[in-house]
Amino acid sequence: MIIDYQCIVAIMNTMTSKEIREKFLEFFEKKGHKIVPSSSLLPTDPSVLFTSAGMQQFSLYLQGKQDPVKEFGKRHLVDSQKCFRSDDIEEVGDDTHHTFFEMLGNWSIGQDEKGDYFKQGAIKLAMEFLTKELKLNPEKFCITIFKGNKDIPKDTESEKFWQEQGIAKEKIKEFGEEDNLWGPVGEIGPCGPCSEIHYDRGDKYGCGKDGCGPNCQQCQRFVEIWNLVFIEFFKDKDGKYISLPQKSVDTGMGLERITAIFQDKPTAYETDLFFPVIQEIEKNSSKSYKLQVPSFRIIADHIRGAIFLINDGVLPLNIGQGYILRRILRRAIRFGKILEISNQEFLLDLAKITINLYKDVYPEILDKQADILDVIQKEQQKFSKTLERGLLEFEKLVKTDPPATLRVAMWAGNEIKVISGEQAFDLYQTYGFPIEMTKELAQEKGFDVDEKEFNEKLKKHQEISRAGKEKKFGGGGEFSPELHTVTHLLHSALRQVLGEDVQQMGSDITLERLRFDFSFDRKMTADEIKEVEDLVNEKIKQNLVVKKQEMSYDEAIKSGALAFFRDKYPEKVSVYSICDKKSEEIFSKEICAGPHIENTSELGKFKITKEKSSSAGIRRIKAVISDK
Ligand code: SER
Repeated sequence: MIIDYQCIVAIMNTMTSKEIREKFLEFFEKKGHKIVPSSSLLPTDPSVLFTSAGMQQFSLYLQGKQDPVKEFGKRHLVDSQKCFRSDDIEEVGDDTHHTFFEMLGNWSIGQDEKGDYFKQGAIKLAMEFLTKELKLNPEKFCITIFKGNKDIPKDTESEKFWQEQGIAKEKIKEFGEEDNLWGPVGEIGPCGPCSEIHYDRGDKYGCGKDGCGPNCQQCQRFVEIWNLVFIEFFKDKDGKYISLPQKSVDTGMGLERITAIFQDKPTAYETDLFFPVIQEIEKNSSKSYKLQVPSFRIIADHIRGAIFLINDGVLPLNIGQGYILRRILRRAIRFGKILEISNQEFLLDLAKITINLYKDVYPEILDKQADILDVIQKEQQKFSKTLERGLLEFEKLVKTDPPATLRVAMWAGNEIKVISGEQAFDLYQTYGFPIEMTKELAQEKGFDVDEKEFNEKLKKHQEISRAGKEKKFGGGGEFSPELHTVTHLLHSALRQVLGEDVQQMGSDITLERLRFDFSFDRKMTADEIKEVEDLVNEKIKQNLVVKKQEMSYDEAIKSGALAFFRDKYPEKVSVYSICDKKSEEIFSKEICAGPHIENTSELGKFKITKEKSSSAGIRRIKAVISDK
């Protein structure tokens, strides 16, 4: 099919981001695809921190290990996937990077039946959507294809199919592995050559230099809008590309970028996805967006990212996913200070506006609004207290002249002042500055940070505090008595909400999370999960005491204590009750070897991060608590 360029008329670009998302899903649904909901930002694959690409939830299908028809009824799928890229946090503020974003994607998994499509079909569908549905002018498109390497040949097929779609040969550019061999996510996994559609935004965005084109390093004239990946390989742990038993299509179009192009805005921040938030920041600040672009964007991006992370079960912590949440929230707070926003509640106001922007597409964030705001507010209260003092401390540090406390390093013949690991650790420990924040502050002043020394200090500190805990609680290795007490609360809450048939089948506690297996024959509903969470949090707030008594096993059972694995108990057992100090009303009573904390007031907020099947008739819950 040759596109008739004359037919393409400029239209009023009135579609909102919501309409674009809908149009995409509907278009592919009409073309026989099944609409699949977005998976969580927290992937099932523990080797990666977040869902950062649309294909993660389909990885096993793409590898041919599972049949999409069994699960979805079709092998042609379409979705809008929530993604989070923590690697890009420091790039946020520029025109194109975001932490959270949505990836629109269509999928053709395997080539078994009539109608299944690969390169030709994917290219044809992409052109049809962009030119017929969004009515973008194909003359503005520039295409990239894989030029080949020693293992994989040049993608001449895509080159031919693009030309069949009316794209001139000179608009099709070849690139190598870095740009046009996509994936895998993480070290191993499905991957393949890809072909990207870049949109030429014209001279006003260009650098004007010779050779300016897609992937130009100097300017943002060409924006990549859609990546069509032709999944054919599995990259193994030795870095070898092994042919998969089937070929599949995985496409990804960033909703943010296509919205900006469609609405003819310089970036997504000026579109309906962000602009109401930017305007609200402007209302609260003496500064203007025009003059302080990155600070505004950072706040708007990070608050949105935080909302979606909390929605999927992340709480601010000092490790893992929780650390990323803490980092972006604290970064947003710091940039709020740069913009001289005095309203202490400003993050909450922004969060409400953001939730409002997304509530129709992700109704669950409205349902969880109170929880989300609570998490943000606590973090804001906690960090606002120390931020000011920490910044003063930092200023003192960098003003020391001559830098008595600063080390001076030589780098490429230049003197560089270095903030020591110890100083960075003090900012972390006393004032709650994530190391990345100290590095960013230092960079603004032309300083370096001894991160290696910081990491050594942090490790040492963690070892000491772990050893301290073990001493206090009599050994037990990597274990959190806080989470142990929470496990008892969870157990009782589950029995109250789901019924007394629920029995503990297993438990595993680390410093970071609890895992609890229990007998129950179906998936818990979202309401039940929330009810259990709420009940545990209510009990935590009641400042219940944890009491230990010693008695014989029979007495314990008679007194109503829960016990499992009967044969394993000695004659004399410890019974832990969690009860109201005054009324002595008992919420939980279990035979247990401990250790536990003494009062639930020591606990932060409880959150279930996962509920899934463990084996037949047994469910598994993973949960965390935020620090107090
Ligand atoms: N997997 C590709 C990407 O993330 C296309 O969806 O860009």
